[in-house]
Amino acid sequence: MVLSSFRILEMELDYHPELRGITVNRPPLKLLQDVPFPAWVADNWETVTNFQAKPDDLLIATFPKSGSTWMQEIVDLICRNGDVGMCKRAPVYYRVPILEFFMNNILPTGTDLLAKMASPRVMKTHLPIQLVPKSFWEQDCKTIFIARNAKDSLVSYFHFHNSCHLLPEPGTWQEFSQKFMDGQVSWGSWYDHVKGWWEAKDKHRILFLFYEDIKEYPRREILKVAKFMEKVLEEDVIEKIVQSSSFNIMKDNPMANYGTLPASVMNQNISRFMRKGEVGDWKNHFTVSQNEDFDEHYARQMVHSSVKFRNVL
Ligand code: A3P
Repeated sequence: MVLSSFRILEMELDYHPELRGITVNRPPLKLLQDVPFPAWVADNWETVTNFQAKPDDLLIATFPKSGSTWMQEIVDLICRNGDVGMCKRAPVYYRVPILEFFMNNILPTGTDLLAKMASPRVMKTHLPIQLVPKSFWEQDCKTIFIARNAKDSLVSYFHFHNSCHLLPEPGTWQEFSQKFMDGQVSWGSWYDHVKGWWEAKDKHRILFLFYEDIKEYPRREILKVAKFMEKVLEEDVIEKIVQSSSFNIMKDNPMANYGTLPASVMNQNISRFMRKGEVGDWKNHFTVSQNEDFDEHYARQMVHSSVKFRNVL
């Protein structure tokens, strides 16, 4: 019998039996150096900012909804030489912990997971560059940064807010879009985030990638990542990594698609974590006049930056 991906999702809820029946209250936003975060980040800031990186730590950084989970899967597959079974050993948020994840009444914190992890460690963050713990730069760690065009990031973030109870209520599409443009969403302004990391890319060991490029030619971008990680991969391994990290495979893999979390934390009946994985889905959401306002605002925000996205805008 072929099980639908929804059925697989239900079955995998057994992964966290301790979470059955819990209620998750959406957090308020709190400011950290003028950047809004869910309270669970701000309330644990001392632990995050004092995190001690090691020289062989690898950081994956993005603004939320820019393909960070995709890169977690790609990097884990590279680390495991394309061993797909090994990459199903645990949910992606355990294999590649989220540095600033602190819902410790629900799941282990990112820093606790990292403390127990053998080196070389891989972790992910959505922090803007100025808030990354300074030990990463002192240790000259490598970072893979992915930028995704602002409109698709906004659309993806809106849907994710609707399903994910670890974030504040999004309000309506119009309200959320305005908050996004004002930088009043969790992890702050998309514009400042992308500009900040873009400027930092020549000062630190940062591989700066674009979501749209990975979509266009995943093999090419995966090879860039492998080279950055100083890994040489056999041809059949490269092929396996390209396949296993594709949207269609990841969407049915509960260890990659957050299907291990119960609906009280992430209700994927409202919106799947692996939602569409497309470039240009914003066209299904923006009205003509909203698009004009957004473009004008975008041009003002980005006027002094040389970062250029391909023409999906
Ligand atoms: P959509 O909501 O547009 O579908 P993050 O992991 O940073 O939260 O980003 C999530 C976004 O990346 C979602 O976008 C998700 O579908 C997309 N994504 C995840 N894995 C992907 C893959 N293998 N290929 C393309 N997009 C992927």
